Parts: sequence; C-alpha cells; structure tokens
Amino acid sequence: MSDTPTFSAPIGTRDVIGPESAQWEGLVSLFATLAHRYGFSLILSPLFEDVGVFHRGIGEESEVASKEMYVFEDRSGRRLALRPEGTASVVRAFVQHHPLTPFKAWYITPAFRYERPQAGRYRQHHQVGVEALGTDDPAVDVEVISLAARFYGALGLRRVRLLINSMGHDECRSAYVNRLGEYLASHVADLCDEHREVWSKNPLRLLDCKKDACVAVTSEGPMLIDHVCEDCRTHFVAVTEGLAAIGVESELAPRLVRGFDYYTRTTFEFVSDALGTAQNAIGGGGRYDKLAEQLGGDPTSGIGFGSGVERLLLARAAEGIETPLLERGLDVFVVDTTGHDRATVLVDTLRGAGFSVDRAYDQRSMKAQMKVADRSGAALALILGPREDEVGEISIRDLRGEGGQQNVTLTDLVAELTRRLSQ
Ligand code: HAM
Repeated sequence: MSDTPTFSAPIGTRDVIGPESAQWEGLVSLFATLAHRYGFSLILSPLFEDVGVFHRGIGEESEVASKEMYVFEDRSGRRLALRPEGTASVVRAFVQHHPLTPFKAWYITPAFRYERPQAGRYRQHHQVGVEALGTDDPAVDVEVISLAARFYGALGLRRVRLLINSMGHDECRSAYVNRLGEYLASHVADLCDEHREVWSKNPLRLLDCKKDACVAVTSEGPMLIDHVCEDCRTHFVAVTEGLAAIGVESELAPRLVRGFDYYTRTTFEFVSDALGTAQNAIGGGGRYDKLAEQLGGDPTSGIGFGSGVERLLLARAAEGIETPLLERGLDVFVVDTTGHDRATVLVDTLRGAGFSVDRAYDQRSMKAQMKVADRSGAALALILGPREDEVGEISIRDLRGEGGQQNVTLTDLVAELTRRLSQ
C-alpha cells in the first residue's frame, strides 16, 4: 500500500460513474428531446460570473446569495461566484447578446450552494431547466410549466403535485408586504425563535418558514393571492385555466414564495410525495419580469424552471420505477490470443459498422479474457484464436443465452452479427 494520502470528492459532492451515469445520460437526452419539441435551444454559459450578476439577480439578502454562494477572487482581483442557479446567467447572456425574442433556451448545469449536505441536498447539484424571455403571454407560462409536467410523466413519475401561486408585480406585492408586516407586528410573540427577531427585514420569508409557530401565525394572516392587482389576477387565472385545458392539474399554494428575489407573478413548484419534505421539491420556477432590467437590459419579461437531476432520480427510486432511462449494453466483446493486429482491425471495422464493441488487452490467456467478456455484459463474444486465424474465420459465442458457438468467415461476419443482435 502506498503512503501517499488519498483524496475524496469534497463534502456534499459526489462522483457519478457507470452504470448509474447511463441514467443521467438518458434523463438529459429525454429533456433535450422534449425541450427541442417545445422550441428551446441549448445555451452554454460560464459556470462562474461576476458576483454582481447573482447579487442583483437573486438578491444580495437572499439565503442563497448571503450564506451559500461560493465567492472568490481570481488572480486579477475580480470578485466572481460559482453559479448557485442557472437563471441569472441566462438573463445576463440575453442582455449581453440581444438575441431575437422570444428567446427560448434550455440547459443542463451544475449549481453550487454551500448547504448542509443531506440526502437529496448537495453542495454541487445539477439542474436541467428552461428560460423563455420576451413575452408575458400566459400561454408561455402554460408551455413552460407543462414542459416540466410532461417531463416528469416521461420519467415515469406519478406521485408528483404542481403547486402554484402568484407573487404579483412590484406594486401590488409591496402593498401586500406592508399589510403582512402590520399583521405580523401584532403577532410577533407567537413567531418561531428565529423569526421573532428578524421578521421585519423580509416579512415575505416568513411564509416559507416550516416551523409550526410561524405556520400557525401566517396561515391566519393575509394571503398574497388575495391582494394582487386585477392584471396580475387575470394573468394568474389565464395560466391556471390554460393548464387545466391541457390536463395539467395544479393546486393553489398561497404560501409559496420561493427563495429568490427576482420572482414576479407566476411561481410554481413540483413536489414528489415519494420523498421526505426536506428534499421533496423536484423542480421549481416562475416569472421574473424585472430581471433583465436589474441586469442592465431593456425591460423584458421572462419565465423558466429548473429541476434537480439528483432529486428526480431519487424520486424515481422512491417510487420504485425500475425501467432504465437508457440501456447501455455492449454488442460484442472481442477475445484475441493471436497477438497480431487482427483484433485491432476487427474492432475498428465493427465500430465503423455501428456496433458497440469492447476488447481484452494485455494478451492474457483465453480463460482470463473470457472472464472479462462474461463480466462486460456484451451479448456476443468474438473469438480470434490460432485455429480461427489459420482458416480465416471468427468464432461467435452467445454470452447471454445457451452459450452456443458458431464459426463464420470475415465476409459474413457483419451480416451474421446484425441478424443475431436483432433477434
Ligand atoms: P431552485 O428551486 O432553487 O430554483 O432550484 C431548482 C431545483 O434544483 C429544486 O427544485 C431542486 O430540485 C434542485 N435543487 C436545489 N438545490 C439543491 C441542492 N442543494 N441539492 C440538490 N438539488 C437541489 C432555481 O434554481 C431557479 N433558477 C429555477 C428557475 C428557473 N426559476 C426561473 N427559472
């Protein structure tokens, strides 16, 4: 054993390796296909940004920006942050490049938050998501929300509920916040220990508090949805009716405020009833009609959602869904004891013909190579030994069924493999 110290992935992060990684590949490819079907194209943007993008975007005072962001200085003294979420970067890119609107982009990205790690809560998690900028038509809200719902359906998830609320716009929300503030001021003594001290800084946050004391106080108080203006209400009704028209069920969640400051009007969250309450949010999003302006752009409405890949896979496991999202089986494993280049040529030819092929290395014995072939999960082994070499043939051995063996000429090989693999 070496004395050199070893390293592990940092706390709150994990390595995803095969065969589990095939599920990730399948999930992302399903999302990409669906996003394309809804008219979204892929966006790639840097994993780190000027810290101001997130301070102005998600709000300097938000829990994520103030306590969880990975902020650092680069060698030139620029203050940068690893992205804690995808939306602010997409909107920063939109403001920078002025693409045609509506601008519809999808992404798969790691996101970094210094959280207390636990099941389904990581310091590096991964999100698939979409953002649509340039229209406040309720039809786009319906499209974005239904894309998420259809995606969860395609993953096989059944125990999923859609919670929806409206945050109103700046004016109607601030009138509501004043009202909520007045109400809370007369109930301070009944709030939870944490919020009794700090409630006045951001009264809306109390709606998100899960402690019994705060829940009891706020559920008797004024609800945002009852205080939004006529326009915001009309927008909200159009969204819920549009969802109902295409069979996407939603539940009004008047206490749903979400964690970032950029949200306006429609906000939503998908929860899995198969997961515990600490990690049951499998996706969430909403409108952010002021965000482009906050990042220095022209006024431009926007809406999107992000969904945690780890949580989606946990929810599938918790629902007992076993259908793989992607089968990554090998077609053929090549065993060679001749030591010539024939195996190299054969493998190259078969890969060129579209088969997935692996082979043994290091010129080990036939027995050792067959062991590797058996473990590889390949459907067939192709054996190149001295006997086959002499007569210009190859042996095909079935690794999954009866184990029968058959000799074919090189000329017939591709046709015979195609025939056997399609059985
Ligand atoms: P979010 O609700 O903070 O929203 O995150 C989206 C999803 O990412 C959550 O529903 C959850 O599935 C997953 N997630 C968040 N934090 C963690 C974590 N620490 N570990 C594992 N999974 C996690 C946003 O990030 C917004 N950018 C969504 C959005 C897009 N809003 C508008 N457009």
